Amino acid sequence: MAKWYESAVFYELYTRMFRDANGDGFGDFDGVYEKLDYLKNLGVDAIWFPPFYASPLRDGGYDIANYRLVDPRYGTMEDVERVFARAHALGMHVMIDLVINHTSDKHVWFDASRRSKDGPYGDYYVWADDDKGYAGTRVIFGATEPSNWTYDPVRGQYYWHRFYKEQPDLNFDNPKVQQEVFDIADFWVAKGVDGFRLDAIPFLFEREGTNNESLPETHAFLAKLRSHLDETYGGEVCLLAEACVPADENLRYFGTEAAPECNLCFNFPLMTDLFRAPKTKDAAEIRQTCRRLFSDLPAGAAWSNFFRNHDFLTLELLPELKVRQMLEWYAPPQGMLNGGIARRLGPVLDYEEKVIRALTALLVSLPGAPCWYYGDEILMGDDPSLPDRDSVRLPVPWDEVERAEADPNSFLNWLKKLLRIRRTTPPLLEGDFRVVEGEPPSVFAFRRSLPNGQSVKFSIDFATMEYSWEA
Ligand code: NOJ
Repeated sequence: MAKWYESAVFYELYTRMFRDANGDGFGDFDGVYEKLDYLKNLGVDAIWFPPFYASPLRDGGYDIANYRLVDPRYGTMEDVERVFARAHALGMHVMIDLVINHTSDKHVWFDASRRSKDGPYGDYYVWADDDKGYAGTRVIFGATEPSNWTYDPVRGQYYWHRFYKEQPDLNFDNPKVQQEVFDIADFWVAKGVDGFRLDAIPFLFEREGTNNESLPETHAFLAKLRSHLDETYGGEVCLLAEACVPADENLRYFGTEAAPECNLCFNFPLMTDLFRAPKTKDAAEIRQTCRRLFSDLPAGAAWSNFFRNHDFLTLELLPELKVRQMLEWYAPPQGMLNGGIARRLGPVLDYEEKVIRALTALLVSLPGAPCWYYGDEILMGDDPSLPDRDSVRLPVPWDEVERAEADPNSFLNWLKKLLRIRRTTPPLLEGDFRVVEGEPPSVFAFRRSLPNGQSVKFSIDFATMEYSWEA
């Protein structure tokens, strides 16, 4: 029996910008509540909420000051639980972010850690007497952070951080930190969540002489977390990995049959291929990626295929030449920051609906759980003049949504129809995957078949952006 998440349509809902019910300029859970029927009608099966916990918002909430408190700007815990319960009543699942690589520097653990080396929180973070350790580790937020080490005058030592300096990394070598993670997960499952997006998951452990990404210790911890959840909740709680790493490394985040890790992984390798193919008019890259990614997954494992999210359209996985091409095709005049393009789906593809529709049809016909970014269903705009990633985090213009709903030819209504086709075509949900060989170079075709013989062939021609399904 397939698990609920394996082919679910996910919707990333950025609460702050989604719907502001009380008019204070800050989206909130009451606003989400008002729009749950809208999401259900769209064809959403699961909502993913990025962090809404107490936070100074240095990094859009990915700097958590308290894992168990709802930031009052979004509402109360009761408001959140009301949304979860109503989503469930409508048959939708709910995922939240588990941001465990780091906390905010305003978390009480960090305060205690910097104040007392020998106290109970002394080794909750990664401290050192100098900033020489782990040389050779890339600095992810290089546009603002000169180093992964920052000196803390209170403790008189340096602390390690893979992101902003206001986000000190937790020390996963400390078993108490690992236990905290289990406890936080249990806390939120009790509130009604069905799964967790694991933020920045390759970076949990540090070891001298490595690049400090995807270390064996990190995989061992993920297997422990998965077995904790599987044993406690009978395999119904889903872990979704955010690991922007090359295909072979990414596949390892599913773990093995004996030691499973994540149920879903965001499909970063496919994402850039999707944007490249309409420009190169060549299906070779995508064919190769899909052949590699969609065969031999462990039971219950699936990819979460996506175009965009609340971050930059990342170019991290591409070699230099392809980065240059992507910038030429897609970067706004402001260029890019921290290795990515701050554009949304509609504007980045010049609102060319023929291209967008064909790519979307492909996205939802591939095996796995597609993840849709809020607002892209109306091809909403962005604003690359805004700092950092604010460009792709604008408020939903609900009047535009209403207009799109009333227009039978809108992208929104087309998308609804597409998701309905998918929902009612079993091979597109559970069929296996086989590339159809012998097509012209610009054509990517694959067949999805069920054991009962039912099957569908999907093909897309990147030279013309024509696509079709046939039996
Ligand atoms: C990935 C999140 O998607 C991003 O928004 C955040 O800045 C980093 N992880 C750090 O938490």
